[in-house]
Amino acid sequence: MYDLIGYGGMISDRVRTASYARALEHTITPETTVLDIGTGTGLFAMLACRFGARHVYAVEPDDAIALARDIARDNGYERRITFIQGRCEDLSLSEPVDVIVSDIRGVLPLYAGSVQTIIDARQRLLAPEGVLIPLRDRLMAAPVDAQDLYDKHASPWMSHPYDLDMRAAQRYAKNTWHKGRIRTEQLLATPGCWAELDYATVDSPHVKGHASWLAQRCGTVHGVSVWFETELAPGAGFSSGPDHPELVYGNAFFPLSEPVAVAEGDRIALAMRADLVGEEYVWSWRTRIQSAESAQDIKAAFDQSSFYGSPMFASERHKRAACHRPSLTEDGQVALTILRLMSERHKLQDIAQQICERFPHRFSDWSAALNHVGRFSGDFSKTPSESRDE
Ligand SMILES: C[S@@+](CC[C@H](N)C(=O)[O-])C[C@H]1O[C@@H](n2cnc3c(N)ncnc32)[C@H](O)[C@@H]1O
Repeated sequence: MYDLIGYGGMISDRVRTASYARALEHTITPETTVLDIGTGTGLFAMLACRFGARHVYAVEPDDAIALARDIARDNGYERRITFIQGRCEDLSLSEPVDVIVSDIRGVLPLYAGSVQTIIDARQRLLAPEGVLIPLRDRLMAAPVDAQDLYDKHASPWMSHPYDLDMRAAQRYAKNTWHKGRIRTEQLLATPGCWAELDYATVDSPHVKGHASWLAQRCGTVHGVSVWFETELAPGAGFSSGPDHPELVYGNAFFPLSEPVAVAEGDRIALAMRADLVGEEYVWSWRTRIQSAESAQDIKAAFDQSSFYGSPMFASERHKRAACHRPSLTEDGQVALTILRLMSERHKLQDIAQQICERFPHRFSDWSAALNHVGRFSGDFSKTPSESRDE
């Protein structure tokens, strides 16, 4: 979810935005049709118009699309951009497009269903000789000496606040990654690439890879920092890494189960994987640290996963398994009732009345029920003009 401050932050990230502008300028010709996945407030769609695109389809599920429409009108581009509110996966177009542009990453390109969204768009909506922006993202990593970042995972639970033993949270906290900027002096070795997403060929949202390093100095490994380098188009790209100016994405910090002291020459090996489960990535990271003195001397070996990062996660995952037969909670029954009545075109006031009667202990009064129904209508009903066009 993004808010206006978030959208503003992306636009004012000059490195990101100027690189995308360069990539669009390089790629677009007067005949080009463009799909802007996740247009947000419409920046890439309008830049595509400025660089001469014949037509742009701009898709965005968020209500920010209303603002994008207004801004496109203010800049005279409204006739060359078709705005479509919804997810790209639900989009069908009358013509395949020549260019697909997107930045639907989070801290990393593996964010929610982003890779799957791009694969689906490439397969269904892109012309055979079409071009993707970005072309590829490289996932980078390095072991880091970063007590400050590690403290977020350990300190709150180890410090016995108010004389309480809260250490039970540790096993979850250490299986969680967080957004944390790394400084170059915290790197213990030269960063390496552990996976590459080539968007023209990638056919699975699941990603795995490995990297290994020789520690370049003594220090303490607290975790692994992960970031990405992108090639948007030939000659246009950027890195979100610590040796570049800080970007809106930040870096991801994956803690080790325990900090490990290393000497120069110790080998640090990482096996990393990200598996898309439902709409969320489960991250797993295995680290093994060998002494420089002898390969048999294993200083530490850890096997961590965001699967264990939350007490809730196992049951949530079970609920999403293909073989699971769900039975509705009361909230589910309320939702089902509302959607049924909406599909039968009842007025919201009548739907509110009916759910009040059927679920009397669920709503304090009719106006609370109307509020609830109103949210469903906002999310799932057509606008009056869309209903007229039916
Ligand atoms: C990082 S923002 C980028 C916004 C805009 N392109 C910009 O650069 O200023 C990503 C946007 O992608 C949208 N998005 C995420 N998944 C999407 C999907 N499957 N289909 C369409 N839009 C999506 C989000 O709602 C969000 O507005």
